[in-house]
Amino acid sequence: MTNVFLPGLLAGKTAFIAGGSSGINLGIAERFAELGANLVLLARNQEKLDAAVAVLQAKGAQALGLAADVRDYAAIEQRFNEASQKFGTLDIVVSGAAGNFLAPAIGLSANGFKTVIDIDLIGTFNVFRASWEHLTKPGASLIAISAGQGVHPMPFQAHACAAKAGINMLTKCLALEWGPAGVRVNAISPGPIGDTEGMARLAPTPESTAALKGRLALRDYGTKQDVADMAVFLATPGAGYVTGSIFNVDGGNDLGDASADALTPPRH
Ligand code: HXC
Repeated sequence: MTNVFLPGLLAGKTAFIAGGSSGINLGIAERFAELGANLVLLARNQEKLDAAVAVLQAKGAQALGLAADVRDYAAIEQRFNEASQKFGTLDIVVSGAAGNFLAPAIGLSANGFKTVIDIDLIGTFNVFRASWEHLTKPGASLIAISAGQGVHPMPFQAHACAAKAGINMLTKCLALEWGPAGVRVNAISPGPIGDTEGMARLAPTPESTAALKGRLALRDYGTKQDVADMAVFLATPGAGYVTGSIFNVDGGNDLGDASADALTPPRH
């Protein structure tokens, strides 16, 4: 594992990570822990939270796992109160709780569509809104987890595309409103990241995995650390003049289909 950041870079900082008990969000939490941050993880399942907290504590971090559903604003508010009672103001907030499945629009009930909007988009509003009273001001860095679906329409992803597009715009609006208080708001848009529930759902077979990799400029899935390192950068003063931006960490996925071999152009 390559470490491009100085040890102790996040010492004394506290990060609150919604959706932090698994996947990309836990990868971010682990990276923050390795760099010295205190962690508060929020997710639905207390058992998964306890396991994730143990992983972070094994890295020497102080960590707290708080159970709540991002769709429940009152519960989120309460969890932020508990987080700041333990650690003081929050320097970094990551909103990454997400739900997704492949379904054609005509296979989606109104409630199926609403469920993904509620978890991804309204959940991100809930987390960021409830964090406001507890943020380090100036200085806090807020990071939403978006996806390429927020920009590129995809079949069987009407719900996720609408939700992630909303997250992108919410990120920019909050950056505008909260910048004067010294709060930066950005988003990371991960591409296909290996060893995640999301990719297991979106490319479930070896054939679909190989086909997807063949269309990427960098020809492979990314890692959770690839995403985490972008989050670390956004959390530090190195990104002190960066707000309202959406960062692709996607191996070139945003560029489109790169399956043609650019080094051997077709003959005329
Ligand atoms: C059609 C479906 C469906 C499917 C659920 N629904 N799965 N419709 N096809 N495959 C419908 C249900 O029928 C129901 O509508 C409604 O959605 C809510 O379902 P519940 O199971 O009651 O909801 P809930 O228990 O809240 O679970 C939410 C969930 C679930 C999103 C459906 O899959 C979940 O908890 N996921 C969290 C984990 C996850 O998805 N991880 C991957 C995230 S990766 P009716 O009308 O029957 O009541 C990710 C990044 C990928 O998001 C990048 C792209 C964005």
